[in-house]
Amino acid sequence: MSILKMSDLPLAGKRVLIREDLNVPIKNGVITSDARIQAVIPTLRAALKAGAKVMIMSHLGRPEEGSFNAQLSLAPVAEYLAKHFREVPLIQNWVNGFDMGDHSIVLLENVRFNSGEMANSTELARKMAKLCDIFVMDAFATAHRAEASTTGIIAAAPIACAGPLLLNELEALGRIMQNPAHPVVAIVGGSKVSTKLELLDALVKRVDCLITGGGIANTFIAAEGYTVGKSLYEPDLIDEAERLMITAKQRGAELPIPTDVVVSEKLSNEAESAVCLVSQIDDNEKIYDIGPDTIKYLTHIIKKAKTILWNGPVGAFEIEQFSVGTRAIAKAIAESDGFSVAGGGDTLAAIEAYGAAKDIDYISTGGGAFLAFLQGEPLPAIAALEARATRDEQVI
Ligand code: 3PG
Repeated sequence: MSILKMSDLPLAGKRVLIREDLNVPIKNGVITSDARIQAVIPTLRAALKAGAKVMIMSHLGRPEEGSFNAQLSLAPVAEYLAKHFREVPLIQNWVNGFDMGDHSIVLLENVRFNSGEMANSTELARKMAKLCDIFVMDAFATAHRAEASTTGIIAAAPIACAGPLLLNELEALGRIMQNPAHPVVAIVGGSKVSTKLELLDALVKRVDCLITGGGIANTFIAAEGYTVGKSLYEPDLIDEAERLMITAKQRGAELPIPTDVVVSEKLSNEAESAVCLVSQIDDNEKIYDIGPDTIKYLTHIIKKAKTILWNGPVGAFEIEQFSVGTRAIAKAIAESDGFSVAGGGDTLAAIEAYGAAKDIDYISTGGGAFLAFLQGEPLPAIAALEARATRDEQVI
């Protein structure tokens, strides 16, 4: 893959426009997870150290384009960044040009306030391109979106290149998908098979063991012929679950189905709960976590893995009494010597809650982009960087 890199370019004195993904959760003006901001700080530091005049561009949420929305202002992010870079002014109405004054780093207000951003307007991309000498695409988490600030600008900018965070993501995820060390174990949790069918499909063809969790596992339990009471599961997806089990078997891969589970009638810490075999679930009960035998079996597999991919919790981990399975999975991944990669909002929340971050080799900033990459879908921003590099080589 031929992509121009920010680290290969002389940035001194240049106006460098960096697209980051600072789409962080904010509640009542307070940032509730700073993982994405922390992840971009090395890129910003490197650009500043090289002498660039840095403009950071990001979206936040999905505002109606064409007007300002205070709820989706990047003001809390500017405040957060100021703790790392002294002062980071937040620039409003920047698209037709603005003066950076003496500032070496500024944050541009939510790029999605501009009409045409999400539709990848060429006119808007050209205006953005005029602001800079060099455009850096560093927002892996938005690389699956063909928008003016992620894709259109790559063709329009004087120079377009990839930033270090984007390259790190591609390298870590690429390591999982291309020639990984075996055994490869993927853990895919979450509520519905339907939302992760493409991911399960892609992984079952590659991994040695595909562990499912949460509502996804419930559909597999039902496909095995057990009744799952009132548990969340998708009867329409039972055929797909059976097909995935057959594919795994034909490849000699394992797709372990929980043998015991934690059930309750209510999703609450106070509710009575019990461990039972999957053959003993009552009509009124719901599965909220995996049971101790299943935990023992799965953690044994994870600890022996040489490559591990984790996306999605295996139980309702936000409720303490149903968090045992997800906690045990996080711990097993952290203790494994294998190369481990994790991604997705809930997964990151679990990793944070159990303090496992330092022992996981790579934590992706991507949600949708992480899944798209693993499913083998082309990422428009990466395709644009590759096309741009080819075009520039031909000109030279
Ligand atoms: C994400 O949170 O996955 C990215 O920031 C992309 O956001 P979007 O789904 O609103 O494009």
